[in-house]
Amino acid sequence: MEWLERPVPAVRLIDQTRLPVDEVYLEATDVDALVDAIARLAVRGAPALGAVGALGVAVAMAQGERDGWDDARLRHEIARLRDARPTAVNLAWAVDRVLPLLPDGRSAVLAEALRVLDEDEAANHSLSEQGADWLLARCPERPLRVLTHCNTGTLATTAWGTALGIVRELHARGRLELVHVDETRPLLQGSRLTAWELAADGIDHVVQVDSAAAGAILRGLVDAVLIGADRIAANGDTANKVGSVGLALACADAGIPFVVAAPWSTVDLATTDGTGIAIEERGAEEVVAFGGVPTAPAGSRVFNPAFDVTPARLIDAVVTERGVAEPKIRPDMSAVHQPL
Ligand code: MRU
Repeated sequence: MEWLERPVPAVRLIDQTRLPVDEVYLEATDVDALVDAIARLAVRGAPALGAVGALGVAVAMAQGERDGWDDARLRHEIARLRDARPTAVNLAWAVDRVLPLLPDGRSAVLAEALRVLDEDEAANHSLSEQGADWLLARCPERPLRVLTHCNTGTLATTAWGTALGIVRELHARGRLELVHVDETRPLLQGSRLTAWELAADGIDHVVQVDSAAAGAILRGLVDAVLIGADRIAANGDTANKVGSVGLALACADAGIPFVVAAPWSTVDLATTDGTGIAIEERGAEEVVAFGGVPTAPAGSRVFNPAFDVTPARLIDAVVTERGVAEPKIRPDMSAVHQPL
């Protein structure tokens, strides 16, 4: 993700809907383009949504200067951006972070937005090291076979990644054997995006259908599951890509660690528990068609939640740059500690 100042200020993004086939970039110069990119998941992943939200406020200001918006219109457009997706708290968090600087002008907003990006990258590296330390302290015997869901890498963040950042850290330390990549129905963020990132890094992986995950875990083929998060409530309940809670149940039965990795900007202390997290429901076409070909009878009703909530009681660790919380033992996100 990149800020372009000229000729018209823009945010430059890789269009994630086109991967892995085409590496195409889009340049969003107005709020409509940003809202559209967010809604159709051209940009996605909680920390990346935060970054685009913060930069998006500067885009809105530049558009307002061009089109002669008054303050009320500018704030209305910024609110549209803030609400473009409901579950990932990072989007609203980042917009709210830069908003107080509106009276100071666009360069002040842009400078703060760029700080959001820099801090996210630093957080990813820090939490990846802490996550690897935590895991290796619990699973010291052998190079790890891990399973991951959705995409939590560079594409979903500003750089490096969260759960995939821990994977990269384990690989760098020579302590990774294999990554099981859930394809992640219905939009295939795992097979399209995570496998693309792992292949680029030369990290050994297998792509599997989501329904292979529980069996692989119970057969002892996986040592730990690592996922990201869209919103973590004060008690550790975690909203993430639909399918996450099933992985946590399988881990609990198998007695292997279920680990959530996220920057602190994904922690929402104002939300007491998972019941307070809004779960985005997306269109039927994502479920009943594949590549434009129908996969269910015409008129089938559809249930398409984009996320689910894993209860704190099933989560062994929430790894952040501020430290590791262990919700299973203590359902309190403020009780983070540095891993031994
Ligand atoms: O619908 P998406 O692709 O935006 O969902 C993304 C996820 O669920 C990720 O796991 C989460 O945002 C963490 S990204 C570091």
